[in-house]
Amino acid sequence: MTMIGLALSLLVVIAHPDDETLFSAFIHSLTQKVEANVDFVCLTNGEGGFRHSSASEFLYGNLHLSDETNAREHLSRIRQEELFNSGKILSIRRIFFYNQIDLKYTTDVESIFNEQWNKTLISQLLEETLRYGYDFLLIFLPNGNSHGHHTASALIALETIERLKKDSNFKMKIPTVIGGSEFVLTSPLIPFNSLSKVENKTFRFDRRWKLNCQRDHLLDYNLIVLWTCAAHKTQGGLIPSTLTSLARDYEEYFYFSINDDVRRLKSVENLFKDLTKLHQEKRYGDE
Ligand SMILES: *[C@@H]1O[C@H](CO)[C@@H](O)[C@H](O)[C@H]1NC(C)=O
Ligand SMILES: *[C@@H]1O[C@H](CO)[C@@H](O)[C@H](O)[C@H]1NC(C)=O
Repeated sequence: MTMIGLALSLLVVIAHPDDETLFSAFIHSLTQKVEANVDFVCLTNGEGGFRHSSASEFLYGNLHLSDETNAREHLSRIRQEELFNSGKILSIRRIFFYNQIDLKYTTDVESIFNEQWNKTLISQLLEETLRYGYDFLLIFLPNGNSHGHHTASALIALETIERLKKDSNFKMKIPTVIGGSEFVLTSPLIPFNSLSKVENKTFRFDRRWKLNCQRDHLLDYNLIVLWTCAAHKTQGGLIPSTLTSLARDYEEYFYFSINDDVRRLKSVENLFKDLTKLHQEKRYGDE
């Protein structure tokens, strides 16, 4: 790639092991097509994800994973393993687990900070992780319709970036923050706060773009999305929802206004322009 001399690096902040499947196509193209280094931060231990675990019980020593008490004892270890497996498909370099409790579903972000997670600790851990130095930070696009853990993870990341921008002791580069949407947005976004404002500009990654494999030129990124979903065997609802309620042709990404630097905006524009070009060029099998 001509866009950057050095390998590009990206840190992806997810709330649960399996959230990365929402961004699988984009991530896979980065590691495979532009040789980016991509790391994950996973905030929760995923122990609350037992609702659709029964089909996988035979794979895991017949532990009754759909039973809450059992799940809270065993799921976190199993789901870490599942995230490593998905990470292999996406060629992820490192995965950082922050082990916050995955207590329950709520859209009430404040209650997550009060009853579930230690926000101060997460922000400290994220600062430590950011010392590895990243060009880009991919977080959830904060959204009132989302799982509160998703929104909360994004808000903590944005607050951490804002804090580090003002901290003269933080010598590492501050990454450019982009938000990934969980679904195709049909109405304008209402920002949660001043930090979560995005530019009115959508960057799209088309999952129907071909993988450009030499011997099988019809395969597209939907294959990668489903492979990563299939890595999460305890999440029996994931493939059905990916094929129905969450089905979409495009992954959509947004640029946060707090990046506040026209060169950063250019770098995101160039990245998506390059990815588009790369996938639209005539490749294997074209006439
Ligand atoms: C949250 O983490 C901070 C920083 O590590 C720690 O000082 C504090 O005691 C923790 N709070 C709770 C309620 O555990
Ligand atoms: C966003 O930009 C589009 C054109 O690209 C415009 O039609 C729309 O009104 C804008 N929305 C807002 C909220 O500014």
